[in-house]
Amino acid sequence: MKPIRLAINGRSIETSVEPRQHLADFVREELLLTGTHLGCEHGVCGACTVLIDGAPARACIAFPVALDGASITTVEGLADDPVAARLREAFMEEHGLQCGFCTPGMLIMARDIVLRLPGADDATIRHELAGNLCRCTGYIGIIRAIRTVAAERAAAGEEAVATRCSAVAPPLHISPLTLPVANLLAAARENIAEPASPPTAAAAFMPEPLRNPVEMVQEFEVPAGRPDVLSLFQDPARVIACLPGARLVEPSDGRTLNAEMVVKLGPIQAAFGGRAVISADPAHWTGTIDGQGVDRRSATRVQARLVYVLDEVEGGAATRVRVNVAYVLQGPLAQMSRGALARDLAARLTGAFAANLAAGLRGEAAPLQAAPLNAGALMFAVVADWLKRLFRKR
Ligand code: FES
Ligand code: FES
Repeated sequence: MKPIRLAINGRSIETSVEPRQHLADFVREELLLTGTHLGCEHGVCGACTVLIDGAPARACIAFPVALDGASITTVEGLADDPVAARLREAFMEEHGLQCGFCTPGMLIMARDIVLRLPGADDATIRHELAGNLCRCTGYIGIIRAIRTVAAERAAAGEEAVATRCSAVAPPLHISPLTLPVANLLAAARENIAEPASPPTAAAAFMPEPLRNPVEMVQEFEVPAGRPDVLSLFQDPARVIACLPGARLVEPSDGRTLNAEMVVKLGPIQAAFGGRAVISADPAHWTGTIDGQGVDRRSATRVQARLVYVLDEVEGGAATRVRVNVAYVLQGPLAQMSRGALARDLAARLTGAFAANLAAGLRGEAAPLQAAPLNAGALMFAVVADWLKRLFRKR
């Protein structure tokens, strides 16, 4: 048993947990909060959805032992929440429930959707809700109820709420991120002109604007001068070669790329196919990569924007690369885990990218390119790190 501290529905608790006990069993059996339902216990159906640090997550694949210090909200914790109250009314008005088994998870996800996306249309709601299954198949009423509340919030001028908090990831190298760096990246975003008209029909890809992205900032150094690094960032084939599990599916025209990236999540293998466009502002040593893709099997969509700024270090012999990654994940894979774990995984992906980038600039083969990104293995590494930290504290 390991001692942990949690805030559950606003109440602080200190208790001890078995490392193998998942969060859904913990809230149901130890705290008698039985509004959290269990369907598949594999992270697939969404019946067990709760909020962890404000973001929806699957309680059946989250473990209290790894959540020390987190804030958990179950459906009971939304009893007095005005948005959830309006959604409950709308579900009743629109016949959004039949047996009610999926309803706690649906309500938690619905609240997240209307907060983040006021005025969301049916297609957006369907994508956002793709990770919640209703065995009574009453989706039409559920979607109508969510659309109604989202439209009311838009009509009332409610601002979108960022429920999936942005984060500054720990730097891979050198000092912690400081505010001037964030300002520098913001300025870089403004300096980079939106792409001019595409040079070919094949390149007629314009990324959609990101709505409420999760953002993270990273920095690392590579042993090469800025011109070499900038030229690598402007070469789609070399950028793709630095991403584990990624490949170009057709030759790039030098500005847009059509690519696929395979990610393994334990037994699940997701293959995100999509397009990206590369822009640069060489005068300011900055650039962007905008992309969007979909995993057709799970219908999970991802949109991402990477902004980088290059600084000379060691008298120009090396380059410090500062990157801001903003992404939006929609669909079943979006709720697989705690947001902090997803951010750690994104940080580790950036680490693999940096290692491959450095190798590429030295003229060596990318060391982490051979296998697809195994998020499952990375997840174990992340959890292992957390457990080590936990044990160090005792
Ligand atoms: S019980 Fe199905 S996702 Fe957790
Ligand atoms: S209302 Fe029965 S499972 Fe959704």
